[in-house]
Amino acid sequence: MELEDFFALVHPAIAIIVVFPLIGIVTNRAWLVRQRRLQVIDGEKSKIPPIVGSEHVAIGNWLSISVVGVALLGMAYPIFSKFLKNDVFSKDSLRAFSVVAIFIATTAAFTFLFKAKVKIWRNIFAALTSVGLIVLGAQPEVFRRDSEWFFSHYYYGIAAAILMIISVAITQDIYKDKQNRWRNIHIILNCFALLLFIGQGMTGSRDLLSIPYSWQKEYLRPCDSKTRTCPKSTAFYIPIDR
Ligand code: HEM
Ligand code: HEM
Repeated sequence: MELEDFFALVHPAIAIIVVFPLIGIVTNRAWLVRQRRLQVIDGEKSKIPPIVGSEHVAIGNWLSISVVGVALLGMAYPIFSKFLKNDVFSKDSLRAFSVVAIFIATTAAFTFLFKAKVKIWRNIFAALTSVGLIVLGAQPEVFRRDSEWFFSHYYYGIAAAILMIISVAITQDIYKDKQNRWRNIHIILNCFALLLFIGQGMTGSRDLLSIPYSWQKEYLRPCDSKTRTCPKSTAFYIPIDR
């Protein structure tokens, strides 16, 4: 396998090996947290240990880190492979180095989100991380499937990453709010995030199917994806008697 093809597989492989198992664990703990809380409200003696709450949050933090990480990686591959192929670092060095700076700034803002204790700073770092992801996604090298945004791996991925960032930012609000408004907002947003994750599994597999090996690309270039046809060339046929 060519190195280029190997790098294309790093993002999907990490998503499958790291992100999806974490989604399973976090969802399981979320269900237990809810069951336990409702049982306690009803005055029942719950068999679910109280630790499920802190386990949900601790693994939730890792889920958030891994989702933002794979989203950055998913955009880094097409951006930098096309930068190198089209020599963008010398032809449009201002944009190329700005993109590098935005990757670094987004990672830094996301790191500070976990360190910040004051609410306003948590909101600022959450907003900066989200804006960073959107600006990187706006680069022409990223395939956004704008005409089919409702089934686009890019839009689902960025939306899911932002929902994970919001979850981290509102953690303290969920605990402090005695009326459970933030808790209910969190449940609604993250049930939607679960649907987006299912969508990521489907759209990611579809996109993987449509990307050929690097050695196949030049043969597939004449194909038209709109009419779903390839030119019939005698070069493709090998006579049977040879
Ligand atoms: C797949 C993603 C997630 C889903 C479906 C989800 C869902 C839930 C549910 C159903 C609850 C229980 C609500 C209740 O008590 O009725 C909960 C609690 C909570 N979640 Fe999440 N969540 C997810 C990810 C996250 C993330 C990434 C964080 C941030 C680190 C987070 C932070 C919290 C906190 C702080 C609580 C309150 C825990 C407690 O009461 O001890 N969640 N979540
Ligand atoms: C939560 C999980 C995931 C997130 C947040 C995510 C996010 C992203 C983002 C933001 C991009 C860049 C935009 C694009 O090209 O569409 C991308 C690209 C891609 N992703 Fe994912 N993804 C996830 C899971 C997966 C999975 C499970 C697969 C495959 C089974 C996959 C396969 C791909 C492929 C093939 C690309 C295109 C890369 C290229 O343009 O060369 N992704 N992903």
